[in-house]
Amino acid sequence: MGCKNARCRKSESSELTGSMAAGDSVNAGLVRTGQNGVHPRLGQYLRRHLDQPWSQPLHRPTIDTYRQLQDECSLAGGRPFMLDSGCGTGQSTQQLAVQYPGHLVIGIDRSRVRLAKRLMNQDGMHQNLFRHENCILLRAELSTFWRLLVRDSYIPSKQFLLYPNPWPKPGHLQRRWHGHPVFPCLLALGGEIEMRCNWEIYALEFALAASIASGEPITARPYRPPGSQPRRSASPFEHKYFERGQPLFAVTVPRHVTAAFRRAWYKQ
Ligand SMILES: C[S@@+](CC[C@H](N)C(=O)[O-])C[C@H]1O[C@@H](n2cnc3c(N)ncnc32)[C@H](O)[C@@H]1O
Repeated sequence: MGCKNARCRKSESSELTGSMAAGDSVNAGLVRTGQNGVHPRLGQYLRRHLDQPWSQPLHRPTIDTYRQLQDECSLAGGRPFMLDSGCGTGQSTQQLAVQYPGHLVIGIDRSRVRLAKRLMNQDGMHQNLFRHENCILLRAELSTFWRLLVRDSYIPSKQFLLYPNPWPKPGHLQRRWHGHPVFPCLLALGGEIEMRCNWEIYALEFALAASIASGEPITARPYRPPGSQPRRSASPFEHKYFERGQPLFAVTVPRHVTAAFRRAWYKQ
C-alpha cells in the first residue's frame, strides 16, 4: 500500500539507498544488535501507519494526568511550551527550564522509579504531576499523551527526544518511535523535533522516516555536547555515553517541516 501524500510518494524512490546506508560504527557503541543497516521493512511499516489512523484505545491513567495538567498548568494560556519526551529522571527537563525561562518545559516519562530518583524528597511525586516554576514533570505514557495534545491542537515550540530506548533487535522495529504507529502523530504534533541517540542506525532510520513522511530531506548527523571541559551534557544518558567515548548522533526535524506535515495530515 502506497502513501497517499504526493510528497511522500516522491521520496519513496530514494528510501533505503545511498547515503542512508549505515556504517559499521555502531559495533563500536554500546548497542548490540543483529541489524547491520536501516531496517528493510521500515518504509513498509511507515506507509501503513501513514495510511491508517492508529486506533488503539488511550491509556486511562495518562488521560487523568493530562486533565490534571490542563487544570493546573493551562496550556491554552498562550505561554509557549516544549516537551522533553522520555525525560527519565527529569534532569534534562530541569536544565531546559532554566535555559528557557519563558517556556513551560514539560518532561514526560512512564517510569515512576526514574522520575522519583530526582524527586525523592519532593512533595507531589505521589501524584503523577510535579511542578516547580516553569518545569513540569509528568508520569505518563507518551503514545497517549502525544495523541491528546494533537487532538486538542496544542503545539509545542520544541520537542526533545533524548536517547530513546533503541529496541535494537530487528524484530523490535515497531517499538522504535519511527517504526511505531504513533510516529505520524509525533510529527503532526509540530514544533522542531530534536532526537539524539548513540546508535547510528536508529538516527538514520529516524531521519529516513521523517523524510518519507514529510517529503523533505532530513538527515542524521554526528553530535557532540557543546562546551569545553566539562562538556555540557543535556541528560544523564548523554553524559554516560559521552564519558565512555561513544559516538552520538542527532536528527533535527525543523518546525516548518512538522507544520507542513500537520496541515497535510489533517486534510486526509
Ligand atoms: C534511555 S532512557 C533516556 C532518559 C533520558 N532522556 C536521558 O537521556 O537520560 C529512555 C526513557 O524513555 C522512557 N520511555 C520509554 N518509552 C516510553 C513511553 N512509551 N512513555 C513514556 N516514557 C517512555 C523510559 O522510561 C526511559 O526513562
